[in-house]
Amino acid sequence: MIELTNVSKIYEGSLKAVDDISFTVEEGEIFGLIGTSGCGKTTTLKMINRLEELTSGQIFIDGYSVFDRPPEQLRRRIGYVIQNVGLFPHYSVKENIAVTPKLLDWDPRRINERCDDLLQLVGMPPVEFADRDPQALSGGQQQRVGLARALAADPPIILMDEPFGALDPITKERVQKEFKKLLQGIDKTIVLVTHDVFEAFDLCDRVGLMNNGKLQQVGTPRELLFQPADEYARSFFDNHRFQLEMMSITVGDILEVIKESSALRSFSAGEGNGFSIYHSDSFFSVFEDSDPGERLIVLNEEEEQVAVITPNELLEGFQQVRRMLKEGTDD
Ligand SMILES: Nc1ncnc2c1ncn2[C@@H]1O[C@H](COP(=O)(O)OP(=O)(O)OP(=O)(O)O)[C@@H](O)[C@H]1O
Ligand SMILES: [Mg+2]
Repeated sequence: MIELTNVSKIYEGSLKAVDDISFTVEEGEIFGLIGTSGCGKTTTLKMINRLEELTSGQIFIDGYSVFDRPPEQLRRRIGYVIQNVGLFPHYSVKENIAVTPKLLDWDPRRINERCDDLLQLVGMPPVEFADRDPQALSGGQQQRVGLARALAADPPIILMDEPFGALDPITKERVQKEFKKLLQGIDKTIVLVTHDVFEAFDLCDRVGLMNNGKLQQVGTPRELLFQPADEYARSFFDNHRFQLEMMSITVGDILEVIKESSALRSFSAGEGNGFSIYHSDSFFSVFEDSDPGERLIVLNEEEEQVAVITPNELLEGFQQVRRMLKEGTDD
């Protein structure tokens, strides 16, 4: 768990880059920091692993102040991924990934195995990539090596600063998807800084919206969207509001409101194409991929069938949920 209390940062001769912010990131949570350029996101991140020292306030990790340990020791428990990756050019891919395990004096065999596993995990077969120079990789591949390096010593915490920022839109989408899948298999506490509201909504459990060094609002993506704390929070999402709503309302939410309707029935083979979706899927991800003639078979986490609905019924349900959530905010 990461806990910031009344944290401020004043750079020499400058205004407050970070102005009295407090938030908590629970264990296993992915916490996003979003906001316009210069609002203090990177500074906030760097204070957590003490690449920047705070001017005032406190930061605790698992109950201990970050000042209780030497920064090097702190950083071994905290993976760090930055936008321009920062791979060491004179090291091979494998040597880059091995940096922290070596510092920790792991057995060479264990390091080898770990590197191979991680390369596999990020979709870069070791036989092909382990011995390459970072310069001989595409931007997306470098980014994935950066991610593998951050995961190498299995740190419980990972800080990520615009980790997908340098990628073209198509590669970005693919790497984000892989990343999301990868996260399902590992239990990490993550702070993710991003400009990209879609990325934040897609990947984060909760999001902090920053403005001019201040934390304007903290909440789930849905809370930020439907219960904006102020005019700034309201206007921040306006350009993409509808798409974000589609991303933050799940199939499960929709089933809640159409529970009583006749839409729910079981699926029989004579009905045409059935297509399995999950309770936790966003409306957007399902609707995007479905044809009007299909039956959507909704599964819960235990893979049990809980409902069958058509894309049209799903759309109507979505509109209902949306209306309800909006009504909740108007008064
Ligand atoms: N080393 C520094 N010395 C002085 N001022 C700095 C320093 N680093 C950042 N700043 C200033 O602090 C403020 C916050 O910077 P920060 O890098 O945290 O913003 P950011 O939200 O990460 O922006 P971006 O989205 O552009 O990366 C900015 O006004 C910036 O100019
Ligand atoms: Mg930044």
